[in-house]
Amino acid sequence: MQMFLEGRWMSGGKMQPVINPYDGKPFDEVPVGTAAEVDRALAALVRGAAAMKALSAWERSKILERAAELMTAQADDFARTITLEEGKPIRESRLETSRAIEVLRLSAEEARRLCGEMVPLDGTESGQGKIGFTLRVPCGIVAAITPFNFPLNLTTHKVGPALAGGNAVLIKPASNTPLSALKLTRVLLDAGLPPESIACVTGPGGALGKAICEDRRLRKISFTGSYEVGEMICRAAGVKKVTMELGGNAPIVVMDDADLDKAATAVASAGYANAGQVCISAQRIVTDRRVQSDFVDALTMRVKGLKSGDPLDESTTIGPLVREGDAERVANWIEEAAGEGASVVTGGKRSRAFLEPAILNNVTSAMKVGREELFGPAVAVMPAANLDDAIRMANDTRYGLSAGIFTQDIDRAMRFAKEVESGCVHINWSSQWRADLMPYGGLKDSGFGKEGPSSAIREMTEEKMIVLHLPAAQ
Ligand code: SIN
Repeated sequence: MQMFLEGRWMSGGKMQPVINPYDGKPFDEVPVGTAAEVDRALAALVRGAAAMKALSAWERSKILERAAELMTAQADDFARTITLEEGKPIRESRLETSRAIEVLRLSAEEARRLCGEMVPLDGTESGQGKIGFTLRVPCGIVAAITPFNFPLNLTTHKVGPALAGGNAVLIKPASNTPLSALKLTRVLLDAGLPPESIACVTGPGGALGKAICEDRRLRKISFTGSYEVGEMICRAAGVKKVTMELGGNAPIVVMDDADLDKAATAVASAGYANAGQVCISAQRIVTDRRVQSDFVDALTMRVKGLKSGDPLDESTTIGPLVREGDAERVANWIEEAAGEGASVVTGGKRSRAFLEPAILNNVTSAMKVGREELFGPAVAVMPAANLDDAIRMANDTRYGLSAGIFTQDIDRAMRFAKEVESGCVHINWSSQWRADLMPYGGLKDSGFGKEGPSSAIREMTEEKMIVLHLPAAQ
C-alpha cells in the first residue's frame, strides 16, 4: 500500500515488506517514510488543522459516523488485514474490528457532547458583575504513535477523539503493522474528512519518531508502546501535551475463598489472548497458598485446551508472536525463571514465532517474569500468605495499568481495590477487560493521561476562558 500525506496517496523512494508472522513471508509492502516527508506532511496538516477548525461539531460527528458505516461494510477485510500483519487469531481480529467501529461511533458522540463550563467569577471580589465560561478548542495537530498489538483499535482510539475534537492528525503506525492504520485513513477520507487533515507516514520508528516528536507545529502527542520509547518521546517532545500508554504486568489475586473455576477460566483467556501481547494481559497470578495447587490444576487443564496454529483458521486460539525474536525472548525469560527455581507446569517451547502457552509456578518478584512486562503467552503463579502479602506483591512492580482480584468477600475486594497501585481494578474478573468507552490508562511507569473517547477528546483539546465584562449596574 502507499502512504498518505499532503492530501494524496504516495510511494516513497524505498519500500519495506510487510511480513506475515505466521509464515515469515512478505505479503505486501509500504514506503519507508523519511524525516523530509514528515516535514511535508506537517506543512499540509497545518492547512488541514485550519480546515478541521472550520467544521462544526455536527459535521465532524457525521464524518466519524460515516467512517463507522464504511468500516462495518469492510469489516472482513479489516479483520483479515489485522491477522495477516500481526498474527492475531481471526476471531480476535473480528472483535478488534467491531471495537474500532464502536470507537468511531463513540468519538462521533463525543464530538457533539464536548463543551466547556460556566465559571462563577463573582465568587471573588474582583469578579463581581462578570460572567465567565470556558470553551474547548482543538490543539491543532495531534500525532498518534501507535503499537503493533491492536493495530486498528488502538489507532482508532487516538484518531477518533482527535478528529472529534477538531484536530488534524499525523499517524505513525508501528513499522511492522502499518496496513490497518492505512486502511483506517482511507475509510476516513472516503467518509469526507478534508484530505489535508490526516497523514499516515509509514516506516521504522527511529528517524521518523524523532522528526515527529521534535516538531513544534505539533501540539499534542498520544503514544502507546514501551516505557523506554515513551521516555524518549517525552524528552524529544519539549513543551507539548503528551498521553503515554506504556504497558504493564498485571497482577491477578486469587484468594482462598475465590471461585477457582471462574478465576481459571478468566486467566486462561486473559493470559493468552493475542499470544499475551496485550498491555493488560494477566501476567502475575498472586495466589493464596491454600488454593495454589487447585488453582494451578484448574488453569493447566484449560491452557492445555488452547489451540495453536494458523491464525486465519477459525479454531485457532493462539497465533504466533509478532516477530520470531519476541518469541525467542519470551522463551529465554521462561528458561531463566526455571533456572532460578520456578517450575514450568506446561508449555514454553518455541518453534519459529510460536510459543507453546506456558504456566510457571512458584515465581518470585526477583525473576524477570515476575517483575517486567512479558508480552507473551505465559503466566507466572506467585504464592501469597494472605491479603496483606498479596497486596504487597501486586504492588512490587514499576507498572500499574490493570489488576484483578477473585474473592467472595467484598471487604477484601474493596481493600485491594483501594490499595493496589493500578489505573483500573477488576473485582471477580481478570485484568484483561476493557469497554472502549471507559477511562483507560496507567499509574507509575505505565504512563499518564487517559484514553477512551470521552477522556481522550479532553486531552486532545485545550480549555479557553471567556470573560464577559458587563457594564456596571445602573
Ligand atoms: C492494550 O494493549 O493496551 C490495549 C488492550 C485493549 O484495548 O484491549
